[in-house]
Amino acid sequence: MTLVQVDGIFQSYGPRPILERVSLSVGEGEFISIVGASGCGKSTFLRLLLDQERPTRGQITVDGQPLKGEPDRTRGIVFQRYSVFPHLTVRDNIVAAEGLSRPLGRLFGPARRAARARADATLDRIGLAHVAHQYPAALSGGMQQRLAIAQALAAKPRILLLDEPFGALDPGTREQMHAFLTDLRQETPMTVFMVTHDLREAFKLGDRVIVFDKTRWDPHDPAAYGATITYDFDARNGGIPYQLKEDQDGSSHPAAQPAA
Ligand SMILES: Nc1ncnc2c1ncn2[C@@H]1O[C@H](COP(=O)(O)OP(=O)(O)O)[C@@H](O)[C@H]1O
Ligand SMILES: [Mg+2]
Repeated sequence: MTLVQVDGIFQSYGPRPILERVSLSVGEGEFISIVGASGCGKSTFLRLLLDQERPTRGQITVDGQPLKGEPDRTRGIVFQRYSVFPHLTVRDNIVAAEGLSRPLGRLFGPARRAARARADATLDRIGLAHVAHQYPAALSGGMQQRLAIAQALAAKPRILLLDEPFGALDPGTREQMHAFLTDLRQETPMTVFMVTHDLREAFKLGDRVIVFDKTRWDPHDPAAYGATITYDFDARNGGIPYQLKEDQDGSSHPAAQPAA
């Protein structure tokens, strides 16, 4: 069943096109990895999904409803550099995030104690149990990032947007976070969009891997055209392309282009 439908999105900043002709249909529970050259519009695409900005043209619907232009807790996000609540302890950062996902907001009494126990279990799984009582400022960058990811997941968003979430972590910690994310998805169904620079990570975690690239390239004016989705790989089926996007503009393959 389609959860997120992206139809003919164009996004320009002033006269400068960033994205063009972006269309995508995503089923509930799918994990979409997004790769593409630096500056090609991946974060812009996530902001459009988050409804932080409106597209120049085109429409995005969730569950058949157009985005409303207001914050919505069904969508969580983790940016590459994420800020946690500095005035809350590590554990209370997790508890607060869980509270945000509830209709009544804050938790009291037994519910709060239970949330603390869940937060401690989460911190244990991501190797932060020993700093549960500390404040984020006392943590290393990698630890803060782990906390930010756990916080977004604790809110159990229906749609999770991850913008290069593991890029700053060392390889061992990255593997640990992969396992944590995979486990949580089995416990709580979430639809995930994850931007990454790491192709191996994209295929390991994603059900699909989509590639943003320019199909039109003017050597005299490199910024003349925007990027679109050029490949959509089925990562669970040996990387067989879902559909080569050759039908969209008549060219047989994405334009070869010099590295930026
Ligand atoms: N709010 C904005 N105003 C003007 N230009 C922007 C804005 N946001 C992003 N850009 C530009 O759009 C292009 C795509 O940015 P971005 O989506 O961050 O790329 P990516 O995440 O793929 O590296 C970049 O050239 C960036 O400078
Ligand atoms: Mg980006």
